[in-house]
Amino acid sequence: MKKSIYTVLATAILVGCGNTNTFDEHHEHEHRKHHGHSHYDTHSEVPAHKLIFPSQVPDRIIINLTEDPAHSFAINWRTNQQVDTAYVQYAEETHGPDFFSEGRITNIQAKTTFIEVENTRDKEPRVKAAYHSAIVNNLQPGKTYVYRVGFGKSKAATWSEWFQVQTPPVDKNTPFSFIYFGDAQNDVKSMWSRIVRKSYKMMPEVDFMLHAGDLINHSESDREWGEWFYAGSFIHATVPSIMTPGNHEYDKRTNRSKLSALWRPQFTLPEHGPLEELMETCYAIDYQNLKLISIDAQSFQNNIYSRQAQTKWLDSVLRVNKQKWTAITMHYPIFSTAKGRDNEALREAFKPLIDKYGVDLVLQGHDHTYARGFANNKAAGKTVVQDAGAVYTVSVSGPKMYQSQDQDWMVKRGENTQLFQILTVANDTIHYNAYTAKGSLYDSFQLIKNTNGKNKLINNITELSVRLKNNVTDK
Ligand SMILES: [Fe+2]
Repeated sequence: MKKSIYTVLATAILVGCGNTNTFDEHHEHEHRKHHGHSHYDTHSEVPAHKLIFPSQVPDRIIINLTEDPAHSFAINWRTNQQVDTAYVQYAEETHGPDFFSEGRITNIQAKTTFIEVENTRDKEPRVKAAYHSAIVNNLQPGKTYVYRVGFGKSKAATWSEWFQVQTPPVDKNTPFSFIYFGDAQNDVKSMWSRIVRKSYKMMPEVDFMLHAGDLINHSESDREWGEWFYAGSFIHATVPSIMTPGNHEYDKRTNRSKLSALWRPQFTLPEHGPLEELMETCYAIDYQNLKLISIDAQSFQNNIYSRQAQTKWLDSVLRVNKQKWTAITMHYPIFSTAKGRDNEALREAFKPLIDKYGVDLVLQGHDHTYARGFANNKAAGKTVVQDAGAVYTVSVSGPKMYQSQDQDWMVKRGENTQLFQILTVANDTIHYNAYTAKGSLYDSFQLIKNTNGKNKLINNITELSVRLKNNVTDK
């Protein structure tokens, strides 16, 4: 949210930092007064109050990767609109509390934007919030920092706890790991929480997380975004993430033409996309020896300008790419897992570039099934493939499940299974492991970069065989 394009709906008025009156109760009272009733008046909806309404205490705290992860990270958080001036404080971590002393702490004032949303589609109340963001720069590689966000006196309750965050080291070939999630989307608090938490439990030293779109179901639902932040909790504030938007991050009421009003206020992603409308949705990041590229697949689908701009931009990025590894994430898959879900225009635009420039991985979502394979597989079932080209994956982390059909490109597919993928990039080898919600190994392979630039693909033995909706009983 370095430069928000969204309308600031209210002018900020400085409010005393020590003011702790019950803004939320006042707001709800005002709301009832104007409407004669609350939209929010059934028993089943009451518990969502805390997921929706902000207070003076920061919530929805998240770190994003910047274009220079070894020296910086981006932070976003939310409060109520009483807070119009907020700060990040950070320091190098210490064994004890001594980092929290004069001279060791650096203060940065955040950029603050006031946003007001009302999701009438789901009968949610109007929510006014202040969204704060900052980029912490000039950090040293390979160090762990502590940071907190908030305002007021140093011990005031208006600060978050101190979180740790780590920058990657100078040596770009030092191994690192990231976790890739397909669509969370539905019943996120109820059913996705255990996925993100299980993944963190299995790989607590993970360096970043990647979300391949459809984080939520209704783009304008503040409650659903609240569920997504609730599910990840301190993980979002500790492990940097990147995300690419899916169709559900675009407003259905505008025929998916308008990005969620909350996307840019609540994330800080690179703004170097080829069009104004692609800022923070189409971008590239170098993380160690990996180039990570986000394509805005919904925008691509929406109009010819975006289609042409993203295709040209991807060509320009890949043409000068010197990174050892390259991964693209986009929501709609180049090869879908089911008949009737094909994305021909996307494939025609991007597959020639993926092939031409030797992209290694394409990480996707949308189909609510699992599949992993490569274009020339033709179901050969080999354990070792000398030149597989790009490996394509479709995955799902949330509970919504579709069916798929076996296709030549697939090495492994699956249905009715919530998954997360841990990828470890260890210099010349990428280790890819897909795990179920129970932590069982569902799919596994290695990609080894040969000196000629081609990749050797080794398919590993897994714990679970193919799970299909009609033939699995979960024991
Ligand atoms: Fe989708």
